Amino acid sequence: MALLGGTITPTPRSTKVAFPGPVTFEYDARVMPFDPPVDARFASHPTLQRFTLEPMKATHLDEVVAIEAISFEAPWPRAAFERELSLAHAHPLVCLAHGQVVGYVCPWLISDEVQILRLAVAPSQRRRGAAATLLRAVMDQAYDAGAHWLYLEVEEGNHPAESLYQGMGFTIDAVRPDYYGRGRHALVMVLDLDSEWNGDEV
Ligand SMILES: CC(C)(COP(=O)(O)OP(=O)(O)OC[C@H]1O[C@@H](n2cnc3c(N)ncnc32)[C@H](O)[C@@H]1OP(=O)(O)O)[C@@H](O)C(=O)NCCC(=O)NCCS
Repeated sequence: MALLGGTITPTPRSTKVAFPGPVTFEYDARVMPFDPPVDARFASHPTLQRFTLEPMKATHLDEVVAIEAISFEAPWPRAAFERELSLAHAHPLVCLAHGQVVGYVCPWLISDEVQILRLAVAPSQRRRGAAATLLRAVMDQAYDAGAHWLYLEVEEGNHPAESLYQGMGFTIDAVRPDYYGRGRHALVMVLDLDSEWNGDEV
């Protein structure tokens, strides 16, 4: 069953990568091995930063929970991340720089859709491409796993996040009024992986 929208039978495009992939990913914010090549905006990023992406493990949780606590007004408790580690459809990733967790993403793969539940980067490490790198990894592997859509919710007015998602090709699919409290609306953003990721320029 799909999380949002219609139900479509998943059509795996390749068997080379299991979502989220069993190995350590080494991506460079400027030279990432994606097809199509990384957006020129990211390619020209002033800070060359090499990141290692790995599936989140229990040993990462102290750092993850610390980043979460300073990144969100209503942070997830540790137990929420422990749950992510145990769910079959949850595929949390961490982004490491020099062996330290600098950010993380929590995607769920259900049927033909991936929903991103959480994404954050440590304040001291922002604007270095960590979030873009995590998103690119999710997009790449979601596509390879047969997903057609990537969904997320962001509070209207969260300019860093909105600008990140728009720069990566997400568009606004719906608005959920008062989702975060009175007058605080959620934007449901979607990325069509087939048009965005199949060589078709959008
Ligand atoms: C949103 C967030 C994850 C971005 O992480 P990040 O690692 O700093 O993002 P990146 O460095 O990958 O940014 C990539 C691009 O996104 C856009 N962007 C990111 N932060 C931005 C900001 N503060 N202002 C404007 N644009 C921004 C830019 O286009 C940037 O490219 P550039 O630096 O070359 O201009 C981070 O600010 C964060 O953790 N915020 C708090 C938690 C949160 O709001 N999470 C999202 C919930 S939906």
